[in-house]
Amino acid sequence: MNTTFKRTNSLKNDLVILSDGKNLDWTDNYLTSGEISVFVEGIKNKVKTFVFPKAINFAFIQILPEDGQSEAENKENARIAAADMLEKIQQYKIKSVTLISHADTNRMNEYAEGLVLANYQFLKYFSDKNKEAKKSCLEKVSIHASCISKKDFNSLDAVLEATCKARDLVNEPHSFMNAPQFSKEVEAAGKKYGFSTKVLQKKEIEKLKMGGLLAVNLGSYVPPTFNIMEWKPKNAKNSKPIVLVGKGVMFDTGGVSLKPTKNSMDFMKCDMAGAAGVLGMMIAAAKNKLPVHLVALVAATDNRPGKDAYLPGDVITTYSGITVEILNTDAEGRMTLADALHYAKQYDPELVLDFATLTGSAAVALGPEGVAYMGNADSKVKYQMEDSGFNTYERVVEFPIWREYGETIKSDIADIKNLGAPYAGMITAGMFLQHFTDYPWLHFDIAGMAYLHKKSAYRTKEGTGVAVRLIFDFLNQYFKIK
Ligand code: BES
Ligand code: ZN
Ligand code: ZN
Repeated sequence: MNTTFKRTNSLKNDLVILSDGKNLDWTDNYLTSGEISVFVEGIKNKVKTFVFPKAINFAFIQILPEDGQSEAENKENARIAAADMLEKIQQYKIKSVTLISHADTNRMNEYAEGLVLANYQFLKYFSDKNKEAKKSCLEKVSIHASCISKKDFNSLDAVLEATCKARDLVNEPHSFMNAPQFSKEVEAAGKKYGFSTKVLQKKEIEKLKMGGLLAVNLGSYVPPTFNIMEWKPKNAKNSKPIVLVGKGVMFDTGGVSLKPTKNSMDFMKCDMAGAAGVLGMMIAAAKNKLPVHLVALVAATDNRPGKDAYLPGDVITTYSGITVEILNTDAEGRMTLADALHYAKQYDPELVLDFATLTGSAAVALGPEGVAYMGNADSKVKYQMEDSGFNTYERVVEFPIWREYGETIKSDIADIKNLGAPYAGMITAGMFLQHFTDYPWLHFDIAGMAYLHKKSAYRTKEGTGVAVRLIFDFLNQYFKIK
């Protein structure tokens, strides 16, 4: 996170004031009478943002848009408003602001979230980082203590830091972020935040016969890794863990079934966004000392057409023993996830959630606005997840795992094949994964939301860090923590 984020009792700073435009008792604390009349006139004319450079401190005033169709939409509008306000703050080259609310409905959480996430930058590869950084020079965001509890602030701080870390991991090109490097990131984060980690190297992966992961890795000269993370606090509310699984294809060329669509390979460094999301969630949990026993699993490799690469027609025996006929080496994510999902069985999990940039069809169906999900977890879990989707605006929509779709991955030569019917690709992919589960499970196809080709308000271009905010909200609600 490139923003220093603080809770403060001081108002001696440039301010961003949130207002509902109705109660205006507070205005003479900050504004001159001339400014107040400009402000009142503006409100009448439906102006939403005000800049008063000469007030006691520099004051930006935000009239909160409360005209959404739902509470969730109003929250989202506050995040978007913050991203718009950031552009104004940047124009004045202001380095530090304090947020205070004088509105009846408190949107501080969402507003601060929008501001910090919009302010995210990935500058590692610029030779002159300072010059680039200055283009957007907000360095510090503080929230006045009257508007947010310590507990809420700590949650927000954890989830924002974790979301930004997930963005960093996705934004890193494959020339840096390969499977061994991802494992270094896992170990470094475990040390820094206090969760335990274990990395299995190629020899151990071979010993375990993780055939799915090894098959995808055949075309690469970089070895695969299998990453295990665990957060097990003494005060955990669950006796059986929640297991998170992330797709960790560090780069997806398609393998010998080279990606057929023009330019679609250009951004395939994002094919480990699920892995970035679950590592981000472990960071959020450990930083926030979440009272939930969590495990995260990532089978990591890239997918390339090297000389030993797996081929269409090959039959692969996965870690579970289930055999798979390969018909398209670009359907590699399900091969690696198969082994991670099978590995999850040993934990006797309460619930398994997997996150994967799995199919173009999910991306085509929902674009960057939503996540396709499916699975056999009970309806209470699904309802809670959908609610968290609206809360965080990482919205999820359920797709049906009907038997007839599943029949299209039957093979004539092996137990199943890695390619289904030419329709409902996100469903046949999900139903492929289901073969490797024996526990309550939900699968999230994040292909559309993981990576943006252009910025959208507080979601910066490239990696979005999707899944971190969603899972964090879900676990808090599901275990009634907040
Ligand atoms: N990594 C891709 C899916 C993807 C598409 C991710 C767009 C992010 C954005 C995945 O491995 C893939 O290639 N899926 C194929 C499967 C097909 C061959 C059955 C697809 O969806 O086209
Ligand atoms: Zn692929
Ligand atoms: Zn892929």
